[in-house]
Amino acid sequence: MNLRVSTCKTLRGSVTVPGDKSISHRALLFGAIAEGTSHVRNWLPAADCQATLQALRSLSIEIKETSANRFDIQGKGLHGLRPLAGDEPINCQGSGTTMRLLAGILAGQVFTTILDGHSGLRRRPMERIATPLRLMGARVETTDGHPPMTIYGGHLNPIDYSMPVASAQVKSAVLLAGLFAEGETVVYQPGPARDHTERMLRAQGVKVSEHDGIIRLVGGFPSLKPLDVTVPADFSSAAFPMAAALLVPDGQVTLNQVNLNSTRTGMLDVLVEMGAAIELRNQAHTGGEPTADITASTSSLQGVEVAGDTVVRMIDEFPIFAVAATQANGITVVRDAHELRVKESDRIAAVVGELRKLGAQVEEYPDGFAIEGPTRLAGAIVNSHGDHRLAMALIVAGMLADGETIVKDTKVIGDSFPEFVSQMRQMGADIS
Ligand code: S3P
Repeated sequence: MNLRVSTCKTLRGSVTVPGDKSISHRALLFGAIAEGTSHVRNWLPAADCQATLQALRSLSIEIKETSANRFDIQGKGLHGLRPLAGDEPINCQGSGTTMRLLAGILAGQVFTTILDGHSGLRRRPMERIATPLRLMGARVETTDGHPPMTIYGGHLNPIDYSMPVASAQVKSAVLLAGLFAEGETVVYQPGPARDHTERMLRAQGVKVSEHDGIIRLVGGFPSLKPLDVTVPADFSSAAFPMAAALLVPDGQVTLNQVNLNSTRTGMLDVLVEMGAAIELRNQAHTGGEPTADITASTSSLQGVEVAGDTVVRMIDEFPIFAVAATQANGITVVRDAHELRVKESDRIAAVVGELRKLGAQVEEYPDGFAIEGPTRLAGAIVNSHGDHRLAMALIVAGMLADGETIVKDTKVIGDSFPEFVSQMRQMGADIS
C-alpha cells in the first residue's frame, strides 16, 4: 500500500494516541503467568501486540476481549502454559518483543517450543537472548543466530549477567526466566533500557530492585498477583505528531496523557535542548507510569549532538528525529547508535538513503549519522523498508517537502500505530 503526501502548512488539534506497545505486550504476557484474572484497558490493537495475543492463546491461555481494547486474561501461574501440538511453531509475526520476552517464559517450562516469525523478524538477532538463557540452564537453538528458535525449557539457575547491549528485551527475557530460578538473578545494564518489566513485576508482588543500572530479582516460583492496568498512551507514537507540529509552518498539537517514563523520553529532552516549544500539562499517573499532556508548537531548532545514554532513552525515535534534524540549523550528529542497524530495518542505512532521496544532507557513520540543515525537502518516491517507524517518519518528511511525496509499503504502520494516518488527517495533513 502506497500513500501520497502533500505539503502541510497547518497542523492543529488534540489527539489521544493509542496505548503503549511495550506495556501492551507485557500486560498480556505477565497476566498469563499471574494467579487469577488480570484486567487490561486501552490495550494497543496493533499487529505486533496481536502476535503476543495469538501466541498466548496458542499456549492455552484464555484471553477475552470484554469491550474495545479491554481484555480479561485468565492467568494460570508460572506453570500453566500448555505446549502446542506436534512441532508446530508459534508465529511471532514481525514482533521482536513477542519472541524475546516469550522466550524468557518458555525457558522455564517443562516442554519444548519453536518460535518463528515473518521474513523481517527472521533477520533479527536472537543469540542476545539465547546466550543468557543457556547460561541459566535452558537449551536454546537458533538458526545461525536468528529465528526460527527452539527452546527446550526446564530447570533454571539464577545468573549474574552483564548485558553487552542496553536492551530492554534482553533484560526482560532474563528477568522472566529468573522467576523460575531459585535465588537472585542479577542483570547489569550498560544503559537505561526501558523499565516497564521491572515496574509491572513489582506491581505483581515480585521482589525486583534497581540501583545504578543493576537489577536484582528474587526468583524461585513466586506467585504473581493479577494485573489491573490501564495502558498509557505510547510516547513512541506521540513522537510523530509532536515532531510534525514543531516542523510545519503553523503547528500546534496536543497529545493527551502520554507516558513520560524517563527511560522513553530521550527525544523530548533533546528537542527541548534544540529549542523546541514543548509544554507538559496535567501531570498524572496511569498504569504505574507517569503521564502528561504534551503540547508542541512550531519551533526553530538548532543542531545538537546525541550520544551515550540518551540514545538508549530514544532508541525507537531516530527515524522521526532524523526528519526533525533536516529542519534544524546546523549539524545534528548521532553516535553510539549501532543498535539501530538491527531494528525492524537497518535504520541507519534506511534513514540515510530515504532522506537523501528527499534532498537531505546526510552522512552515514557505522554507529549513527550526521545531518546538516535546514534543508527544503523536495517530494520524491520513498520506501518504508517494511519498517513502521520509517513509514511514519517519511510521511512527516513528505508533509515538509515541496510537491508530492509517495511513501511505499505503508501497511506496516499497523504494526504499532494503526490510527496514525487518520489522526494526522484530522489535524490537517493531506495524506491519501
Ligand atoms: C522494546 C525494547 C526496545 C525497542 C522495542 C520495544 C520492549 O528494543 O526498540 O521497540 O518493549 O522491550 P531493545 O530492547 O532490543 O532495545
